[in-house]
Parts: sequence; structure tokens; C-alpha cells
Amino acid sequence: MIKSIIVAKSDNNVIGKENDLVWHMPADLKHFKNKTMGHYIIMGRKTLESMDKPLPGRTTIVVTRNKHYKAEGCLIVHDVNDAFQIAEENKQEEVFILGGAEIYKITLHLADKIYLTEIKATFEGDAFFPEINRQEWREVRRDEYEPDEKNPYPYAFVDLVRK
Ligand SMILES: NC(=O)c1ccc[n+]([C@@H]2O[C@H](COP(=O)([O-])OP(=O)(O)OC[C@H]3O[C@@H](n4cnc5c(N)ncnc54)[C@H](OP(=O)(O)O)[C@@H]3O)[C@@H](O)[C@H]2O)c1
Repeated sequence: MIKSIIVAKSDNNVIGKENDLVWHMPADLKHFKNKTMGHYIIMGRKTLESMDKPLPGRTTIVVTRNKHYKAEGCLIVHDVNDAFQIAEENKQEEVFILGGAEIYKITLHLADKIYLTEIKATFEGDAFFPEINRQEWREVRRDEYEPDEKNPYPYAFVDLVRK
């Protein structure tokens, strides 16, 4: 089973601020939806709570240390490896790691693939993606886009696979 990180980060590695996103980029939301729809997705408790409700059409696995934690419509685990195991037992060919910062930090070394959206700007934030060691990854896709009326920043969809 392929373990894939999916993330949108700025030039200075910001992914969020005050438990929310810091940009509105509908093109990235569409890309994210296309990639993850129908799949098992793994996220930290804080990322789940940053959303109104679990993302429809996907099976959400939430990672928390709280043994009493419950979230409607979600599977709960206390170790990210248990999340991988659940996806594997359910015959998934690919599982998606959705963040946030803490979950990326503990899974980057375990991931086989990164679907990276580069938002080409710098932002203030309090949640960061760890530095990607490019020696470890092969870039297999790069699609660059200019800003448009709906998407205020230049951006790129970049796929990285572990060498
Ligand atoms: N730009 C993007 O692509 C993107 C994607 C996702 C999220 N985000 C942003 O990222 C921010 C949230 O990131 P975050 O780092 O604050 O939170 P997070 O990674 O979503 O969740 C952190 C929580 O995960 C649980 N956890 C962490 N490590 C664990 C471990 N080893 N074992 C068991 N449970 C563990 C803990 O839950 P308990 O406290 O319940 O124990 C911890 O508080 C928000 O701003 C969000 O908008 C951005």
C-alpha cells in the first residue's frame, strides 16, 4: 500500500495558522478533492477539529492520544501505524496523510509519495511542513500555474516519489 502525504505549503513552509488555512485557493481544493475522494484519509485531531465536519466521500481516520476521543463518522487511532493497518486491512492501494504539522512530522519518513502544492508566496503562520530533503525524493510531476481571478497566488502541483 502506497502511503501518500498530501499538503499545500507556502515558500516558507507554512501550512496553517490558528488551526485554519491561511489562503483561499479553490484550484488546490479541487485538486485535493480529486486526489482523495473515495480513499482512506489520516489526520491529526486538530485538523479534524479545524473542519466543520468530516470530509464527505472519504473514510477519515483520526490520530489522537486521548483514549476517550470520539468523533462522529470517524475511526479513531492512537498510533499512526494503526491507521496504516486499518487502511491495509481494508485493501486500500493508497492511503492519504492529510496533516497537520504534527502528523506530517511523524509520517514524512514513512511516506512513499508526496502530493505537494507549492503556494508561491510567504505567509505568517504557526503550523509548518518539515523541510523536504530533495536528495530523498524524485520529482515526477510539476505543473505550474499563474494566478487568476479565483486563485490569488502562483502555484504548482508537484508529485514526489521516494527514490
Ligand atoms: N496546508 C495543508 O495542506 C494543511 C493540511 C492539514 C492541516 N493544515 C493545518 O495544520 C494545522 C494543524 O496542525 P497541528 O500540527 O496543529 O495539528 P494536527 O497534526 O492536525 O493534530 C495534532 C494532534 O494529533 C495528535 N497526535 C500528534 N502526534 C501524535 C502521536 N504521535 N500519537 C497520537 N496522537 C498524536 C494529538 O491529538 P490529541 O491532542 O487529541 O492527543 C495532537 O494534538 C491547522 O492550521 C490546519 O489548518 C494544513
